[in-house]
Amino acid sequence: MIIEPKMRGFICLTAHPKGCEQNVINQISYVQSKGTIEGPKKVLVIGASTGFGLASRITSAFSSGAATIGVFFEKPPQEGKPASPGWYNTVAFQQQAANAGIYAKSINGDAFSNEVKQKTIDLIKADLGKIDLIIYSLASPVRTNPATGITHRSVLKPIGNTYSNKTVDFHTGIVSNISIEPCTDEEINNTVAVMGGEDWEMWMDALTAADALEENATTIAYSYIGPSLTEAVYRKGTIGKAKDHLEATAFTITDKLKPINGKAYVSVNKALVTQASSAIPVIPLYISLLYKTMKEKGIHEGCIEQIQRLFQDRLFTGNAIPTDEQGRIRIDDWEMREDVQNDITALWPKASTETLGEIGDLNGYKSDFLNLFGFAVEGVDYAADVNENITIPQLQ
Ligand code: NAD
Ligand code: NA
Repeated sequence: MIIEPKMRGFICLTAHPKGCEQNVINQISYVQSKGTIEGPKKVLVIGASTGFGLASRITSAFSSGAATIGVFFEKPPQEGKPASPGWYNTVAFQQQAANAGIYAKSINGDAFSNEVKQKTIDLIKADLGKIDLIIYSLASPVRTNPATGITHRSVLKPIGNTYSNKTVDFHTGIVSNISIEPCTDEEINNTVAVMGGEDWEMWMDALTAADALEENATTIAYSYIGPSLTEAVYRKGTIGKAKDHLEATAFTITDKLKPINGKAYVSVNKALVTQASSAIPVIPLYISLLYKTMKEKGIHEGCIEQIQRLFQDRLFTGNAIPTDEQGRIRIDDWEMREDVQNDITALWPKASTETLGEIGDLNGYKSDFLNLFGFAVEGVDYAADVNENITIPQLQ
């Protein structure tokens, strides 16, 4: 079939297999251009099919030659309907790994469930014995806690006060004012239950109980901080409470991993265009100014540049892993640079429907968004007929 982007609100309902494949190939080429990293050998990536998790899987496999098991939740193709992008990304990743002779297997299912944890552990025990790196990179709006059976839904709201600011609809370029009403306590608890550290700890407990962790095993989860501009809706909002919990969980897990000298870290990453961040009010406007500023300064990064740098300059240098006072790895250092943030602070009041095309990187935002679904990728012939009905090799 011929596949075109089909937008509905902040989501795109279609994905292009060739574009997704090209994105994966480009990411592999990027990490290979940076040389090898004396890194992990046997890696589990939870949330491995898109965004930071996919970049972590690619870096593990193609910078360090690591065996990877990837867990994700993606929609397979259906009669006349393309799969979700993470499905096609993984088809391409598995093919590239096979070509390179690198072990890779994938599991598609709900990572929050006991069943998927058990299936993953069985696979580790059967094929790898033990693992030395666990990347936790889930982004989900909903989680059913297997211990209680309760389904929690996260919200993106400020806490305490109504928050008003500017935002942009990046499809139309229209800048407008929005107000978000504060959340309830229940909404905070639900958001923490979905995006906090509880499930990460459950994974690490299950892996420990199964004796599936190597001596000195490391686990990393991803977080975000951002500027004061977005604080009310991000870091001091409901999602921020979840990130506080995730960061606190790193210490709990490190304590539990003492017998094997293991360590849990949170890495604070840069703001990037993803399906999730596009749905948060104010953030798309911030990102379009951020991209413009960082590109002008020659320090713009996507997921793969971020994760390659995380591995090369933070995790696997042969020295102690540098952290901030709260024990967090900071790979958002360039985003948070004073000159970058000063520029954005100065641009913010000037941002309007009329000016944004000039002072912000709206086009960069739009093309990154399309790229997430395999569209607007250079070198792909979108007029050509493609087979949407492809299966993931080595899917367990
Ligand atoms: P993403 O949407 O690109 O990736 C999410 C992954 O989780 C996908 O592989 C998806 O299949 C998987 N997933 C979702 N629900 C699942 C489930 N129930 N079971 C199994 N797999 C499931 O998201 P991302 O932007 O790469 O985010 C990953 C992490 O990085 C999140 O913790 C996010 O907060 C953090 N982060 C994101 C940004 C940003 O700007 N995007 C910045 C800093 C940190
Ligand atoms: Na991810």
